[in-house]
Amino acid sequence: PLISAITGNPVSHSRSPDLYNRLFSEYGIPGRYIFLPASSAEDAIRAMRALGAKGLSVTIPFKETMVSCIDEPDEDVTAIGALNTVVGCGDRLYGHNTDWIGVREPLRDLVGSDALVVGAGGAAAAAVYALLSLDMRVQIANRTPERGEVLAERFGCTAIPFQEIKAPDLIINATSVGMKESDGSPVPSSLLKPGVTVFDLVYTPPMTPLLREASAAGCRIIKGTEMFIYQATAQFRLLTGIDPDPSKIREVLG
Ligand code: ATR
Repeated sequence: PLISAITGNPVSHSRSPDLYNRLFSEYGIPGRYIFLPASSAEDAIRAMRALGAKGLSVTIPFKETMVSCIDEPDEDVTAIGALNTVVGCGDRLYGHNTDWIGVREPLRDLVGSDALVVGAGGAAAAAVYALLSLDMRVQIANRTPERGEVLAERFGCTAIPFQEIKAPDLIINATSVGMKESDGSPVPSSLLKPGVTVFDLVYTPPMTPLLREASAAGCRIIKGTEMFIYQATAQFRLLTGIDPDPSKIREVLG
């Protein structure tokens, strides 16, 4: 059987095993997708080999450290500096990143827009890479301005203090703000206006304080679930060679 797994720390909250196992039966793939708890990226690779798993989904906090554990990162992984998918072929391990595809796909109608990315971690790097692939102009604002500047420098875009942001067409939250019950919105309210699209990469919970505020202000909102659906679509293709229907994934996620 085709064995795949998800690793990260913690990993037990992930919905991927449930999703992928249902897709395996839906598409008649004789496979199994399991949780692979590990203490480090190296540890996860050892366990992957011991299991004979062909594919690995990689989540926080191993997305960056995993890059040096594999043989061949593709050009997306090299540019973003992080991966979320490892595929074994013979003895060699190939690294891919489908997070940026999850950001790109829901935004195909916004080619050439002025975008603001809030955040400067791994999720922000994938977002900036996706927006640049859609020919957008990108401003980056981050709580710790220095991290924003480092990210902007890497991708040749602009880091900007929150007070100086120029009215964007698209706002992406790439921080972790919105995951906790007590969180507020990481985006200045003055930027939320009709005509602006707001995409929150946080997907647990599906509706965040930012999205609620943006919706009330007349913005078009895109939930983090959309990113998950499209990153999973691309990842499933890498793990199995089968192109799943994104609407099937949306259905399974409910
Ligand atoms: P990831 O790889 O998932 O993006 P990360 O590298 O830890 O995770 O980055 C988290 C992002 O969320 C950072 O931009 C962080 O801002 P700092 O660089 O200032 O740490 C941002 N973030 C986390 N908590 C925040 C908060 N309470 N307010 C504003 N930004 C926050």
